[in-house]
Amino acid sequence: ALTVSGCSLLGSTPLPRMLTSTAPLPEPYTVPLPLPAVAKPGRTDATTDYYELVQRAAEVEILPGLRTPIWGYDGSFPGPAIRARSGRRTVVRVSNGLAVPTVTHLHGGHTPPESDGFPTDLVQPGTHRDYVFPLEQRAATLWYHDHRMDFTGPQVWRGLAGFFLVGDDEEAALPLPAGERDVPLMICDRSFDADGAMPYPARHDGPGAREAFMGGVLGDVILVNGAPWPRHGVDRARHRLRLLNASNARTYELALSPGGRLIRIGGDGGLLAAPVPADRVRLAPGERADVVVDFAAYRVGEQVELRNLLGEGAQARVMRFVVERDARDDSAVPRTLSRVERLDPARAAVTRDFEFTSGDLHGHTGWLINGKPFDARRADARPKLGQVEIWRLTSDVAHPVHLHLDHFQVLSVAGERRAGPPEWKDTIELREAQTVEIVTRFTGYRGRYVMHCHNLEHEDMAMMSTFEVV
Ligand code: C2O
Ligand code: CU
Repeated sequence: ALTVSGCSLLGSTPLPRMLTSTAPLPEPYTVPLPLPAVAKPGRTDATTDYYELVQRAAEVEILPGLRTPIWGYDGSFPGPAIRARSGRRTVVRVSNGLAVPTVTHLHGGHTPPESDGFPTDLVQPGTHRDYVFPLEQRAATLWYHDHRMDFTGPQVWRGLAGFFLVGDDEEAALPLPAGERDVPLMICDRSFDADGAMPYPARHDGPGAREAFMGGVLGDVILVNGAPWPRHGVDRARHRLRLLNASNARTYELALSPGGRLIRIGGDGGLLAAPVPADRVRLAPGERADVVVDFAAYRVGEQVELRNLLGEGAQARVMRFVVERDARDDSAVPRTLSRVERLDPARAAVTRDFEFTSGDLHGHTGWLINGKPFDARRADARPKLGQVEIWRLTSDVAHPVHLHLDHFQVLSVAGERRAGPPEWKDTIELREAQTVEIVTRFTGYRGRYVMHCHNLEHEDMAMMSTFEVV
């Protein structure tokens, strides 16, 4: 329960604020759903696939009839999807054709430190960097996005994000929906000026500007794969929807209308041990959910809306599926999906506490972890390579917390032990005034990594901490 001090704290703590579009917005469910282009490796050899992405400014049509300036990987928003294979080295050369420094992070990647996109490992304009991903990890829906220190919010908002889908033999052997029926859906909110631009609040523009920004920036238009409230025609058959919340600060609770089941088969860290039927799926910024929807439960011609139960009005709408035709369906959702090891908390060598609160940041309000703002030169934890640790995370307002390098399992939420089969995650939503305990093991690489809030405005306002695997 909230204490009185909790209430007064909340009173002074900025909450996310929504920008209002002045552009003419399309009628929901009229724009077709775009599917992200799949990147082709420029070269492949016995062990490695080599990709090249160029970050550049472009103008794209997001709202019908208007041109929106974006920054995109290869000039597209979302960026090209990379379909990679577990155990196959994937090297992505990112060339910076923008006028500002960038950093690219593979979210959910088990990546050596020099390629993980540490927030100060800047790629300067006109230069490039080869990010090397060994991908010694299981199949999972990952994504890549900008991670420049203090500027991740604006740079992702302008479009620097894309899917990175890792497949493996275990997953490929399952009869899950595939091909056209395996649909990545990147969900994020934006707002549009009358000329089509996506404005982002300036942070240091006079009184009140900082407060308007720092709780988190929300848009009033919900985009899926970069299209406003799109529609998508489907067969009367099972589809795998890879849901990604790529929003800066908006959390969704997704459900089908007029009703229907979402069968959750995977999360941040890949397949679950067994499918979990649900009537809704909650996603904080950075989180993913792989769900199967069987459109055979509907009639031809029926329209099935994907709604956001946390939104009101236009922000409650996400996209619409239109069931177009009968079709043969050889897919199935097997009762056993994968083996998921349970990480035993009794093996933990250390328990560490991290408190996520607002506080003083250079004379203004910012977001801190254990009372400290991010400082790239300071490591706040030094876990040993191979060590199992419990991390206890406590919030003031809601914070979606993301850990780089290794996935984790949730042990307890608000003092209640997590029941059910284990699941690997890399981002966990701390709700208001809540403690969540996670257990993880630091594997693979020594070096510097970050843990941070994935509300990107909180992250940019210093809610980030370095840990160094030693
Ligand atoms: Cu999705 Cu450290 O980021
Ligand atoms: Cu936060």
